[in-house]
Amino acid sequence: MSRMKDKVVIITGAAQGIGATYAKALAEEGADIVIADILDGTSVVREIEAKGGKAIAIKTDVADETSAAAMATAVTQRFGRIDVLINNAAIYASLNLKPFEEIDVAEWDKVMAVNVRGPFVCAKAVVPYMKRNGYGRIVNISSGTPFKGTPNLLHYVTSKGAILTLTRALARELGDHGICVNTLAPGLVLSEGVIENAELRDRLTAPVIASRAIKRDQLPEDLITPLLFLASDDSAFMTGETLVVDGGSVMH
Ligand SMILES: NC(=O)c1ccc[n+]([C@@H]2O[C@H](COP(=O)([O-])OP(=O)(O)OC[C@H]3O[C@@H](n4cnc5c(N)ncnc54)[C@H](O)[C@@H]3O)[C@@H](O)[C@H]2O)c1
Repeated sequence: MSRMKDKVVIITGAAQGIGATYAKALAEEGADIVIADILDGTSVVREIEAKGGKAIAIKTDVADETSAAAMATAVTQRFGRIDVLINNAAIYASLNLKPFEEIDVAEWDKVMAVNVRGPFVCAKAVVPYMKRNGYGRIVNISSGTPFKGTPNLLHYVTSKGAILTLTRALARELGDHGICVNTLAPGLVLSEGVIENAELRDRLTAPVIASRAIKRDQLPEDLITPLLFLASDDSAFMTGETLVVDGGSVMH
């Protein structure tokens, strides 16, 4: 398997959860992996290395422009280039469902800082290196929630809606540089965080499954081939687009 051979791929928020699944799958396709997470990504690095892959973990706060820029510099020092950025880090699985009147402004701002400013500053940090090579793939992770207007997560749903428009406007600015920007929008996924968050798991799972054409749980593995498609040359003439992968709940 070598679809991503010699490509340097940064995945934010990949120390655990769905991001870790992406990291391991991209490594199996031959990519050199960078795990950029506020948490320690060493255990995922070890798993990748144990299978003969190459990976490093760089502690990064995606909401902090200086931290994101330092991460991009460190990546180029180590690997000499940056080909792909997967903007996966977000505040999600730690959130509690609540009516919008109960969301305080500090929590709203925190979600926006990580989920919206994060992809912006990470793109800003890596694009100069992509432009140097006239090549890049940016995959922004959104969600099915902005299409549905899922209640009781107003800050999260709003932040994921912003990702759809960020993708479109950024794609227009970067097309001439050989850089494609697309969005992957998963449905409710049984990620580690969702399994641990009893409220998300118990209140959302049954109605979401009932809303799908394919009525089963979505697993992180369901996202691997769509992610590889958007991160590779398989999607070379596609940019500004959103791919919803949710078993046919949202038909976008
Ligand atoms: N799990 C789902 O049901 C689901 C559905 C649709 C979309 N998504 C999206 O998929 C992505 C991954 O979801 P998940 O369930 O694995 O989420 P998660 O909350 O379990 O993991 C998010 C990761 O981001 C990291 N992170 C948080 N703040 C950070 C920061 N400031 N800087 C760097 N890293 C930071 C966390 O440490 C964690 O490793 C998210 O963008 C989420 O919004 C998830």
